[in-house]
Amino acid sequence: MNPLAFLETEVASMVAAGTLRWPRTFDSAQVPRARVDGREVINLCSNNYLGLAYHPRLRAAATAAIDRWGVGSGAARPIAGSLPLHGELERELARFKRVEAVLTYPSGFAVNAGTVAALLTKDDVVVSDELNHASIIDGCRLSGAEKKIYRHRDVGHCRALLAESRGARARLLVTDGVFSMDGDIAPLPALCEAAREHDAIMMVDDAHASGVLGRDGRGTVDHFGLHGAVHIQVGTLSKAFAGVGGFVAGSEALIRYLMNRSRPILFSTSLPPAVVASCLEVIRCLEEDPSLLTRLWSNTRSFKARLRSAGFDTGASETPITPIMIGDEDTAVRFSNELFNAGVFGLAIGFPTVPRGKARIRTIVTSAHTEDDLSEAADIIARVGRYFGLLSKDGDRP
Ligand SMILES: Cc1ncc(COP(=O)(O)O)c(C=O)c1O
Repeated sequence: MNPLAFLETEVASMVAAGTLRWPRTFDSAQVPRARVDGREVINLCSNNYLGLAYHPRLRAAATAAIDRWGVGSGAARPIAGSLPLHGELERELARFKRVEAVLTYPSGFAVNAGTVAALLTKDDVVVSDELNHASIIDGCRLSGAEKKIYRHRDVGHCRALLAESRGARARLLVTDGVFSMDGDIAPLPALCEAAREHDAIMMVDDAHASGVLGRDGRGTVDHFGLHGAVHIQVGTLSKAFAGVGGFVAGSEALIRYLMNRSRPILFSTSLPPAVVASCLEVIRCLEEDPSLLTRLWSNTRSFKARLRSAGFDTGASETPITPIMIGDEDTAVRFSNELFNAGVFGLAIGFPTVPRGKARIRTIVTSAHTEDDLSEAADIIARVGRYFGLLSKDGDRP
């Protein structure tokens, strides 16, 4: 008997329902006009916000680090030790984020899961936005803390849940800085105020704000001028920073504690030299070249305006993540396939990543897209929108 037979049944039912997915393959680097599955498409799928994934400065830094330090770091840091590069990146990130200390992790996912799980116990309460990232949800589950979920961006509801949890040993209020599927920004000033009033730990996951929001891309805390009000800032090195990995930024005590208690630090291999070196180069690029961010935001405004004037509903987005709201899951998948055939790579996102009936095409523009890329992409999207009956000829929603 095959003990994995239940998987075959599961996969067969996904095939029958048309929900089995397999990623497309890039035949080129992550560039605005990429070759994907043998076709040239305008790439609106990647989180490569600053267009740095194939940048010559980053490639040179990564190559030099490989020549000097090799390709791998050997093991987890408590076992194999750190490379000088790890310390250098952490000191630079701490200066950049204006905090006492930083600790890097193998992924942004591992930061959230590993931090929340290390800090909280079953005697604690975590108060979390309903649209927070899966890695925060997993961290909450691993910690055993009681979970209280507030309605999306609803500070009143959040306050009520904090008040309800007065007896807990510790309370953690956690939010995404920028929400990954909708592109809206957390109401951080009011959340920090609520956390302060209730003596809660304030944590922000800035995966989509690192290198995107705030001065030189310092994140949501800098964007709102809230330095000192957030105890734990999470960042990723996998999106605007163009590599892979994540980091937690906060007090010296927090970082020393996590180095000793956080399981992805204790039991997972540290970042390889090439990635650390290219991320150091990103900080230099951000501080030396303001045009990276200026272009990202002007592209964001221009693309949103094009989609809206065509008649699309782009939700509540305030950032380069721009959803094109479709509604029905099946239509969103067919829409995405049609877009791909017409020359635009925009991914369909449906349940369970977003609530049922709120399926969408999630688009992200980068600093590297040109006006030509964006106008051509918007024209193609509008053409497909009309074909699907989502837009009438004059650009209004039917
Ligand atoms: C809000 C948010 N947090 C954390 C992560 C995880 O980051 P990483 O890809 O570096 O593991 C993501 C990635 O999609 C994210 O969107």
